Amino acid sequence: MALKKTRALTHSFVSLFCLSLLVTGAHFEGDAIHRISPDQQLHLRGNLDIGLASNDTISPSAFAPWSYEPACTSKVGQIDSELCVYTDRHFSNGRGISIFTTPEIAEGFATVLASLQHPSSVLDTLGINSFTGAWYTHPVPRKGIGMLAKRDIQSGDTITAYTPVLLAYKERFLSKAQREKFLRLAVTQLPGPSRESYLKLATLSNDSSILAQDIASANSFETRLGEQKGAAEATVPHLTIIPESSRMNHDCAPNAIFHVNSSTLTHVVRAVRPIPKDQEITIAYTSPLDPRATRQKYLSDAFHFTCTCPRCLRGADADADAVLAEMAVLQRTLSAWSDPSSDASVKHAEHLIRLHREEGLDGYLDPAYCYAALMYSAVGSARGARKYAELAIKAIELRLGAGAPDLPAWRDMLDNPTKHWSWMVRKGGGKVVTATNE
Ligand SMILES: *[C@@H]1O[C@H](CO)[C@@H](O)[C@H](O)[C@H]1NC(C)=O
Ligand SMILES: *[C@@H]1O[C@H](CO)[C@@H](O)[C@H](O)[C@H]1NC(C)=O
Ligand SMILES: *[C@@H]1O[C@H](CO)[C@@H](O)[C@H](O)[C@H]1NC(C)=O
Repeated sequence: MALKKTRALTHSFVSLFCLSLLVTGAHFEGDAIHRISPDQQLHLRGNLDIGLASNDTISPSAFAPWSYEPACTSKVGQIDSELCVYTDRHFSNGRGISIFTTPEIAEGFATVLASLQHPSSVLDTLGINSFTGAWYTHPVPRKGIGMLAKRDIQSGDTITAYTPVLLAYKERFLSKAQREKFLRLAVTQLPGPSRESYLKLATLSNDSSILAQDIASANSFETRLGEQKGAAEATVPHLTIIPESSRMNHDCAPNAIFHVNSSTLTHVVRAVRPIPKDQEITIAYTSPLDPRATRQKYLSDAFHFTCTCPRCLRGADADADAVLAEMAVLQRTLSAWSDPSSDASVKHAEHLIRLHREEGLDGYLDPAYCYAALMYSAVGSARGARKYAELAIKAIELRLGAGAPDLPAWRDMLDNPTKHWSWMVRKGGGKVVTATNE
C-alpha cells in the first residue's frame, strides 16, 4: 500500500505525501474491495459434487504447517504455476485460515503465520481476533445485516481487528466450476465457527452452485501477498474475506475506516468520529473522494447496489461533486505552499479541513492537516505547525496504520517544528525550496 511518488522535490519527502492524495483520482491501491465480475460467474448445470459438510475430525497433519494435504489445480499457463488450497486449522487459537494460492506464495505465507504464533502469539498480545465490545450486528432497513455501535465509540477507537479466514489468488483464468471446487474445499477445511461465519455472509446471486465464489465476490477486501522484489513489486492481489468486517455497510461519508496491516495480516477498523450507541458503523467500499458517478458505477458493478447515502443523492452530478471540485482547487493552491509568490495561506488549509468535515470525510483528512502544518511552519507559527502535525499523525495512523512510511517525518516536525526545513520558508528565513524539475 505504498503511496505512489508522483513528483520529486528537493529537501522533502514530506511534501510528496501531500501530493500523493489528491482529491480526484486518489490512489487507494490495496484499500479497494475487489470483486469477481459477475460475467465470470457461469451458470453451472446442477450443483457441484463437493459438499460444504464439515469434517472436524482430522488427525495430526503429515503436511505441516498445513492441516491437510494441499489440493492443487494442474499447472496454469498464465502464471506458470499451479494454485493450491492450504489450510491451517490451528491458526490464532483455532480461528483457522485457508489460502488458495501458488506454492511459492504459500511458502512465504506459512512463514508469516508461524511468526505470528511462535514463540508467543503476537495476535493475542495485540488483542487481534478478540471481540472489542464495540459492536453488534442487526438488520438495517434496505441494507441487509449491518454493524451497529454497542456503546458510544470515541474517534480513534478500534472497532474490529481480525485476520482473514480465507484468501484467494485474484484470477480470471480458472473456469467458474474449477474455482468453485477449490474455494469450497478451502471453506470446508476451516474450523466449524469460521466456516459457518463465512457461509452466512451475503451473496450477490441466488445461484448456490457458485456459493463460495459468490460470497467471496460480495465480501472481499484485497491484500497483496508475495515478495517485494526490489523496486518492482512482485506482489499478487488476493481476495480476502474477514467475516466480521464484511458486516459493515458502505457509506460515502463513513464514520469508520480500515487499513490492512501486512505484518500481522490484520484488517483493522477504527472510528473516524464519535459514533453514538446504536448508530450504524460504516466504511467506504470505494474512494469517497471519487466523483459521484464513478462511485456509483463501481458500487453498482461490484456490489449490485445503488448508493443512497446523502452524498450520492444530492442533485445533478455537478452539484453532487461541487464540494469535491472546491477541495481540488484548494489542494492545487496549497500544493504551491512553499513558494513565497503563491497565494496559499493557512486560511486555504483550514477551509480544506472544514470542507472535509462538513462532507463527512473525517477519515481522509491527512493531506489537509499536512498542508496546514506546513503552511503554519512556513509562516513561522510553531504552535500551528505542532497542532496540525499532531492531527496529521493521528489521521495517517487511522487511514494507513501505525507503520505508514510518512509518520517518522511528521513526528520529527512535531518534536522540533523550528528545526523543520519548512520553518519560515515563506518569510525568507528558511532554506529555499525549489522543485528539481523547474
Ligand atoms: C474426515 O477426515 C478424516 C481424517 O483426515 C478422514 O479419515 C475421513 O475419511 C474424513 N471424513 C469425511 C466424511 O470426509
Ligand atoms: C433470488 O430469488 C428470489 C426469489 O426466488 C428473487 O425474487 C430474486 O430476484 C432473486 N435474486 C437474484 C439476484 O437473482
Ligand atoms: C502492524 O501492527 C504492528 C502492531 O500494532 C505495528 O507495530 C506495525 O507498525 C504495523 N505495521 C504497519 C505496516 O502498519
